[in-house]
Amino acid sequence: MDKRSFTKKAGIAVDVLMYLILLVQMLYVFTGNTLHEWLGIGFFLCLIVHIIIKRKVIAGMWKGGKKSAARRFSDIVTVLLFLCIIVLMLSSMGVSRLLFQWFRFMGSSDLHRYLATAVLTLAVVHGGMHGYIRTKKKKTAAFLIAAGAAASIAIGLALVPYMNRHFRTVTVDRRQAVEGEKVEWSGSKPLVVYFTRVGNTDFEEDVDAVSGASLMLCDGELTGSNYLVAEMVCDALDCQMEAITVTGKKYPSSYGDTVSVAGRELRDKARPDIAPVDVSGYDDIILVYPLWWGTVPMPVATFLEGTDLSGKHIYLIATQGSSGFSKSTADIRDMAKGADVTEVMSIYCDDIPTARQSIADELKKIS
Ligand SMILES: Cc1cc2nc3c(=O)[nH]c(=O)nc-3n(C[C@H](O)[C@H](O)[C@H](O)COP(=O)(O)O)c2cc1C
Repeated sequence: MDKRSFTKKAGIAVDVLMYLILLVQMLYVFTGNTLHEWLGIGFFLCLIVHIIIKRKVIAGMWKGGKKSAARRFSDIVTVLLFLCIIVLMLSSMGVSRLLFQWFRFMGSSDLHRYLATAVLTLAVVHGGMHGYIRTKKKKTAAFLIAAGAAASIAIGLALVPYMNRHFRTVTVDRRQAVEGEKVEWSGSKPLVVYFTRVGNTDFEEDVDAVSGASLMLCDGELTGSNYLVAEMVCDALDCQMEAITVTGKKYPSSYGDTVSVAGRELRDKARPDIAPVDVSGYDDIILVYPLWWGTVPMPVATFLEGTDLSGKHIYLIATQGSSGFSKSTADIRDMAKGADVTEVMSIYCDDIPTARQSIADELKKIS
């Protein structure tokens, strides 16, 4: 093989490798942080090889002379891509938890995600434009580039956060997460009533083997996110809590299966049996619950309909993956006959481990 054809083949191999690395990097929720960081290093090494191999093409970009609109567009995309990769490199160091812990700038994971999405999208357009310039089928090439760019944006902005939210195991230091500013509650102490997946789910013994679970490990112990929120509220108000626990069949270990089962329960208006929750002696109840299918989980419906809540005030703290309170407030008003219902706050699930201060701030507004 002569030197030119070797360089050409090496160039194609490096390009394919870079696209593959970018895609695997998007799946970091499955690969884990260590592989993610080393693959990041691998990507930047490939970039250096790519630049060396394409140095003549890159030099040609700066030459004057008449250029087609497609070539000019391709050059702009290339420059933008290069700039985004450089900033992505800095932000990778900023969010690094292993290799660049000493680098403490640009430590925003949101910024890192947006930059990664921009790099993936621009890389698709960059590669696609090479094909566009060479091919005669311009319309097909333009369509494929647009579709590839749209898919890259969707992966970066919607799919990755979705996977991150639903498949990640979050590790939390309980004391750091739960303890914080105390809030004085006017009137007698409220009771915190909460529902969470942990305690209502048949989890496999080995947490790491639980497929598709959105789990939280608090001091190494499997913990429901809503339980953690309930603990935060109790720490702020120095009050008691009670769990809503199903007594019959528990929910399946897999997150996806739980979503299906919960969807069926909602459609069938199921009211799963729960252990009694004693609210007598309390005027105020703070209800902490996850949104399931835009409303309360059906065991919470059992609690609301099966408990005498008349004359009580129910304060709502919901956790969710995007829907705010959705229909839950209206449904709770419907189910909790004779009770006053007030929204306190709805917490996005990723924010739960760091929600302690905002919970105190919201409680101060209503107490
Ligand atoms: C069965 C099921 C249905 C869900 N439906 C919604 C929904 O409709 N809207 C939303 O924003 N989040 C939804 N989520 C996300 C949960 O509200 C969110 O992950 C919650 O913080 C989980 O708390 P937990 O770990 O204490 O159970 C759903 C989760 C499950 C398991």
